[in-house]
Amino acid sequence: MVPETASTNADLLGDSEAPDRSVLVAEYQTAGRGRLERTWVSPPAAGLTFSVLLRPSVPMVHWGWLPLLAGVALHEAVSATGARSALKWPNDLLCGTGDEPSAFGKAGGILAQTSGDEVVIGIGLNVSTTPEELPVESATSLASSGAPDVDRSELLAAILTRLDVRYAQWAEFGGDAEASGLAADYRSACATIGQRVVVTGTDGTIHGRAIGVDSTGRLIVERDTGEQRIGAGDVEHVRPD
Ligand code: BTN
Repeated sequence: MVPETASTNADLLGDSEAPDRSVLVAEYQTAGRGRLERTWVSPPAAGLTFSVLLRPSVPMVHWGWLPLLAGVALHEAVSATGARSALKWPNDLLCGTGDEPSAFGKAGGILAQTSGDEVVIGIGLNVSTTPEELPVESATSLASSGAPDVDRSELLAAILTRLDVRYAQWAEFGGDAEASGLAADYRSACATIGQRVVVTGTDGTIHGRAIGVDSTGRLIVERDTGEQRIGAGDVEHVRPD
């Protein structure tokens, strides 16, 4: 644990000495990284900001599942606090209090970065963050989602335990997400499936209905022109009028 650093992902990435499952936790990041070149901003001690370095023993072709695996572990640990949570593809953690998980706000995010034989999984989670402290209106925290008194250390331990269990299970099946049950558990936690979506990715902007996640972790979107499988992008859940 460090009181402050630029980015826990940056610190671990490329650290050839760090063993599998090394963890770095920071109370505050001055240059937290997000997906798609975004930033992760969180006031000191209001949330969890940490990274886990993994050296997977399974074939690299399956590594794309690791950020989704981390999303499932995060969802499991957060659900146990009493907060209602769901995943937005690929691995945003949504939390809220209403009836419709796909309309919940973003409480957590995951950034996976690879260097050689290592994958660094960085997790940011808003825990006690107040609405005034949140960087954007669409963000939320556990405190605003029905879990006002979460102990951050206990939650961190629970997330790391779930991550350990999921990682071991997945590795036992050689990284096969279907055979290990990971794909099924991901799909049932994923609020994107069944929603009308706008996906912004490398292929431009796609409108359609998300109908599933395939065995490689890609989002399956049904469009007027047929099905499209998307490996990376930013999803917006479109609310019915
Ligand atoms: C996203 O939603 O875009 C991903 C956010 C990931 C943020 C975490 S905080 C700990 C780790 N260190 C970073 O610089 N980023 C990740």
